[in-house]
Amino acid sequence: MQEKSALSVKGIVKRYPGVTALDNINLEFLKNEVHAICGENGAGKSTLIKILTGAIQAEEGTIAIEGIERKSFTPFEAMFKYGIAAIYQEFNLVPYLSIAENIFLGNEIKKKDGFLDIRKMNQEAKNALDILGIDLDPRVKVQSLTIAYQQIVEIAKAISHNVKILIMDEPSAPLTTNEVDKLFELVRNLKKRGVTIIYISHRMAEIFELSDRVSVFRDGRYINTFITAETDKKELIHCMVGRELLETFPQRKCKPSEIMLSVENLSSVENIKDITFSVRAGEVLGFGGLVGAGRTELVRAVFGADKVTGGTIEINGKKVAIANPVEAVKLGLGLIPEDRKQHGIISEMSIKENISYSSFKKVSRMRLIIPKYLKEIADKYKKLLNIVTPDIEKKIKELSGGNQQKVVLAKWLATDCQILLFDEPTRGVDVGAKQEIYELINKLAEDGKAIIFISSEMPELLGMTDRIIVMHEGEITGELTKEDATQEKILQLASGE
Ligand SMILES: Nc1ncnc2c1ncn2[C@@H]1O[C@H](COP(=O)(O)OP(=O)(O)OP(=O)(O)O)[C@@H](O)[C@H]1O
Ligand SMILES: [Mg+2]
Repeated sequence: MQEKSALSVKGIVKRYPGVTALDNINLEFLKNEVHAICGENGAGKSTLIKILTGAIQAEEGTIAIEGIERKSFTPFEAMFKYGIAAIYQEFNLVPYLSIAENIFLGNEIKKKDGFLDIRKMNQEAKNALDILGIDLDPRVKVQSLTIAYQQIVEIAKAISHNVKILIMDEPSAPLTTNEVDKLFELVRNLKKRGVTIIYISHRMAEIFELSDRVSVFRDGRYINTFITAETDKKELIHCMVGRELLETFPQRKCKPSEIMLSVENLSSVENIKDITFSVRAGEVLGFGGLVGAGRTELVRAVFGADKVTGGTIEINGKKVAIANPVEAVKLGLGLIPEDRKQHGIISEMSIKENISYSSFKKVSRMRLIIPKYLKEIADKYKKLLNIVTPDIEKKIKELSGGNQQKVVLAKWLATDCQILLFDEPTRGVDVGAKQEIYELINKLAEDGKAIIFISSEMPELLGMTDRIIVMHEGEITGELTKEDATQEKILQLASGE
């Protein structure tokens, strides 16, 4: 049976200076379908979503909602009139408001006397969180939540309105396996209730598990739509990148040698408890665990970003005191953070300046910045990581999400760090660029650097590391060798059993 059209776009064009983000897009989304959209970083996926939610306007083309054509609408109309809600790559939560206040922002429940019905809003927020199976107090302020929990609040916000079309822009990226399962359950329930889900993802496995149809974008152009059951990973990837791509993890041509970083009984104010481990030159040491396990907090403590309350850190056999990140960098440590918006980039600066930001020595002579060096380094990493932009002088905030992540990586690769702490380095990065990052990490290891690799994506954690340490609630619950490690074993240790 042919399902009815929920939403369709015709001839959509959107240009930015130097790029055509969307070039004559025609596409139809049906009622009761999960419609995946995939494509490389900068393909135009998020731009389409922003047009569908009224956040930005297309220059040409129309949008038809249940058959009625419109040129454009406001975000308010999109949400409250047409029931189009989106969960963006970058969240829209107000940090100093509570979960419930965020959920009902702009749509507050009022009592008869006109005052806010706080109790009712807390109750309804709790209901939405319960549907998601998440035990959170709706009165808690959003700023105290981790990325994964902020994401959950975004989803709760969308479902608490009468949503007809729910757009998710890489919703699973910050979540771990258990939460992703919950997310899928929720998506399937919403679909049963007649909601159209538009699901953007770089993870092939998810697209195949969840979607009914999948559309591919490349360089601002619509390429094709497939019935998911009738296509395969190879065909999709080929369509996305326009060439064949390896699906395996690249092999490293090196063996771990001497210990470079050794951490003993480390504890921090952020609930890191008694952590002991070491990592060798040429080694990639993985850290697995669920959201909230303390992996990010651990690397922050090592990097001097959080206050350490006990324990010792040795670099190359010498005991060191790292009071802040500046000292950490001086000692040859680099942290590539998971939350690039907060800790990774300076949005008002250009791509070029962001890349060289931590390599002052390399781009300057006698404390003066040499523009030529600045450009050389930026050009080198733009090419190496395939950062898609017409011009490295552009502000970093104009890049697509995945390309911003590549700039953060470039910044740390440009410094000569000996010990690199990667926190979810491939989050939001497309299949082609993932492969490039894996190869880069291997090359760094082969150059004798010690690497810590935090990842919530099981295949890459298993495929990229020499050893995996698993954490739960700020403590280490086990360690697995490459030969021993399986997804099941990691999950078991991660749940603290
Ligand atoms: N505000 C902006 N100003 C200038 N250019 C922009 C702006 N927003 C997006 N672009 C450009 O439009 C193109 C499409 O970007 P978009 O964010 O839609 O990509 P995407 O498919 O969502 O990629 P990703 O997978 O990395 O999130 C990119 O080349 C990007 O640099
Ligand atoms: Mg995007």
